[in-house]
Amino acid sequence: MCGIVGYVGPKQAYDYLIEGLFRLEYRGYDSAGVALQQAGQIDVRKKTGRVSQLAELVKVQPVTGNAGIGHTRWATHGEPSDANSHPHVGGNGEVVLVHNGVIENYALLRDKLTELGYVFRSATDTEVAAHLIAHQLEEETKLGSDPTLAETCIQAVEKAIKKIKGTYGLAILFRDVPGLLVAARLGSPLVVGIGKGEYYLASDASPLVGHTEEVVYLNDHEIAVITADQFQLRHQNGGSNAKHIKVLEQAAVDTDLGEFEHYMLKEIFEQPTSIENALRGRLDDDEATAVFGGLNMDPQKLRCIDRIVLTACGTSWHSALVGEYLIEEFARIPVEVEYASELRYRNPPMTDRTMVFAITQSGETADTLAAMRECKRKGHPTLAICNTVGSTIAREADGGIYLHAGPEIGVASTKAFTSQVTVLTLLALFMGRMRNLSYPAGKRIISHLREMPDKIRQTLKCYDAVKEVARKYYTAENFLYMGRLYNFPVALEGALKLKEISYIHAEGYPAAEMKHGPIALIDEDTPSVFIAPRCGIYPKVMSNLQEVKARRGPVIAIACEGDDKIADLADDVIYVPDVDEYLQPLVTSIPLQLLSYEIAILRGCNVDRPRNLAKSVTVE
Ligand code: AGP
Ligand code: GLU
Repeated sequence: MCGIVGYVGPKQAYDYLIEGLFRLEYRGYDSAGVALQQAGQIDVRKKTGRVSQLAELVKVQPVTGNAGIGHTRWATHGEPSDANSHPHVGGNGEVVLVHNGVIENYALLRDKLTELGYVFRSATDTEVAAHLIAHQLEEETKLGSDPTLAETCIQAVEKAIKKIKGTYGLAILFRDVPGLLVAARLGSPLVVGIGKGEYYLASDASPLVGHTEEVVYLNDHEIAVITADQFQLRHQNGGSNAKHIKVLEQAAVDTDLGEFEHYMLKEIFEQPTSIENALRGRLDDDEATAVFGGLNMDPQKLRCIDRIVLTACGTSWHSALVGEYLIEEFARIPVEVEYASELRYRNPPMTDRTMVFAITQSGETADTLAAMRECKRKGHPTLAICNTVGSTIAREADGGIYLHAGPEIGVASTKAFTSQVTVLTLLALFMGRMRNLSYPAGKRIISHLREMPDKIRQTLKCYDAVKEVARKYYTAENFLYMGRLYNFPVALEGALKLKEISYIHAEGYPAAEMKHGPIALIDEDTPSVFIAPRCGIYPKVMSNLQEVKARRGPVIAIACEGDDKIADLADDVIYVPDVDEYLQPLVTSIPLQLLSYEIAILRGCNVDRPRNLAKSVTVE
């Protein structure tokens, strides 16, 4: 994945580059680097680790220049190391570039370029692009057909990228053409910010906030040719493309930790507000339904929908599973939940009355974007449930629903999950009221939804109990999470949270599935977290819990306040408020978020920046 920034103009480029890299760090934090052009040379500074480490390096070894590029990496090819960090240098230093994406035919290209005498200094696929452009530049120069060196450089890029198979967002500087920044896109997002006598480049709009409000998003196969006084958009096959200037909708990112030690904890405690924001203006008491501003589909068409596909990755995929239960229950429309990474290559039969929702916090997840495009190409109405305003998925969808959860910075998704579930409940209500759901049932759902922010506030009071449980179990090496019906996806999500930030092996199961295999894992050292609030099949869940106890497995139960009986069976109980079954994921997921947070802290892990992960996965 990674984040890219670039600048050309009268100012010192480094200031924007480093600030932009901090804002893009959610896309990867294996290493960071910048390249600045000045006086016929390009200086590179790069370092393994966080952007702050790069900033420290630059304090010791300053760089200056009015044109520059920067990168924060999430490694796909080659371990995180100084040598594999971007920017990469091509030829004898005449080309310097940063890259987001994966070059699939890199091995072949690398062999060819090595034969031609190019020396590789890294294990990345990216370095291939740097040498390839340098080589093409040499070839173009030999031909000597074009009047300016700048034009020759641009043509070298055009020709070189045609040889690349895979995905790229590229930002390229040329040693011998001061002030020229060339950017190219295929599959990895890039946006140009238009300033006064200056231009900015970034992977998404967040670095541009505060610098300009006018932006141009690059499309696939487009090349941006940028100098301080002009910016052209070309198609890689030649000819110029019209620039569609958009006004930036994003507000400055609130990065203040306030009273909290970590973003994850701050975001967990923001949930009463984020859920309130997801509901704001969307409850229609008169019609006992939900209202959305941006679905962009007329009611007639919506009434004809006979199937819904929800596609997503990770935590968003878990919220989709809750959505499946909700929509099928309230609207009686069959729902399929698809991993986006599978859907993009599958060809499931879909009727022409199938509607697709891509669910994503970031709006930049490469697999989700690709699955969405595939469905769009087949003509299905394709909408997004998304948090990030102006993100690629939000822009490309036919319509959608924003979460309005505010920026989620912690890599482990928390408030986005509960906001997604809230929006999916609203969607189920809306689709239901277009069909069989009665007016009184609609009214009941609305009044319960209105109570949720308060219920979440009450739920957060379980934090002290969670801390105690964490202290008791944080050394365990395996955890099981069990839930049924609406709480089955919560079990999956609880296990994912623990894995992500504490590196403990954890698995989530429908509680009754346990006896078909996972029960073999139960022993005295393997805690099972049972999500067991009161529900229609509560006695069945209790039987599953007994099965674990009978095998001496420690049990942590998440139960409804007032359920004293469960305390006799479970080793530890964390109580949450009693809410209707279909709203339980909103409350039961919260102690699990807190539990993973506390355990990770006790194990000394970096909760906001867990190893090997990135906030947004923008490569396949
Ligand atoms: C959640 O804790 C994860 N970091 C991850 O699974 C995430 O939910 C997934 O990558 C999807 O991201 P998105 O919602 O931004 O598309
Ligand atoms: N494939 C490149 C690398 O591993 C770029 C990865 C990214 O997009 O961060 O360095």
